[in-house]
Amino acid sequence: MPVLPQKEFLYLQIVLMFFWCLISIKAWNPSTNPLADRQYRTYRNGIIDPRARWTRFFIFVDPEFNNTERMIIRGVASELQEILPCVKFWMWPKGRSPSDFRESYIHVTKSKNGCASEVGRMLNGSQKLELDPKCTDSNTILHEMIHALGLHHEQAQPDRDKYVKILWQNIKKGKENNFRKYDPKEVSSFGVPYNPKSIMQYSSKAFSANGEPTMVTTDGKIITKPTELQWTDIEKLKRMYNC
Ligand SMILES: *[C@@H]1O[C@H](CO)[C@@H](O)[C@H](O)[C@H]1NC(C)=O
Ligand SMILES: *[C@@H]1O[C@H](CO)[C@@H](O)[C@H](O)[C@H]1NC(C)=O
Repeated sequence: MPVLPQKEFLYLQIVLMFFWCLISIKAWNPSTNPLADRQYRTYRNGIIDPRARWTRFFIFVDPEFNNTERMIIRGVASELQEILPCVKFWMWPKGRSPSDFRESYIHVTKSKNGCASEVGRMLNGSQKLELDPKCTDSNTILHEMIHALGLHHEQAQPDRDKYVKILWQNIKKGKENNFRKYDPKEVSSFGVPYNPKSIMQYSSKAFSANGEPTMVTTDGKIITKPTELQWTDIEKLKRMYNC
């Protein structure tokens, strides 16, 4: 008879372990999981905090990327290197990997759905930058790398309501977190004006539940997908890194 409750206890443990794993796996992705954002904020205050910045930006491109994709990623890194000469950008050569690497580095990996990155430098060791097959173009990679360098989305700025209008009723259920405004204590625009053409700005159809716009400019204009890095993005990066 005492065998039965013990067995049940074991099952319960297995079930709990399963959920724990599930939560741990999900927790690091800030753009899909609000929990991760909260954990992040307890470490630091976001991009205003200098600990979230990089002095050396190390990139490890997973071997599952082919040469063409590697070349695009390298091109993006060179572009950022020109903008931020005081940060050293470095990529592991093909075939080499960062075993026992002590400092923070970006691990570029493939994902099945969505592109995501942490915002800013996290703790030492690897932090993921995920790219699905739809986002291996240089603009999207640039967008994700700028997240890793410490910029949130343009519409996350505390003063964004002066420039864009969020249409909450059209946003997919559960995706509202992506339209969150940040506290002025956490993020700063470093005195650079809001730019709806920013590479960090969502287009009007992002996370739409019904094909209707989820965000428009305050004068009602549709926001299209950003086509190139804007001077405001460049200026903000330079001011954030003081270089
Ligand atoms: C590399 O992968 C991309 C998909 O991201 C594909 O379109 C391209 O054809 C591949 N290139 C080579 C040389 O295999
Ligand atoms: C990260 O690594 C650097 C250099 O290896 C070290 O100076 C720093 O204290 C480490 N930070 C943490 C949070 O472990």
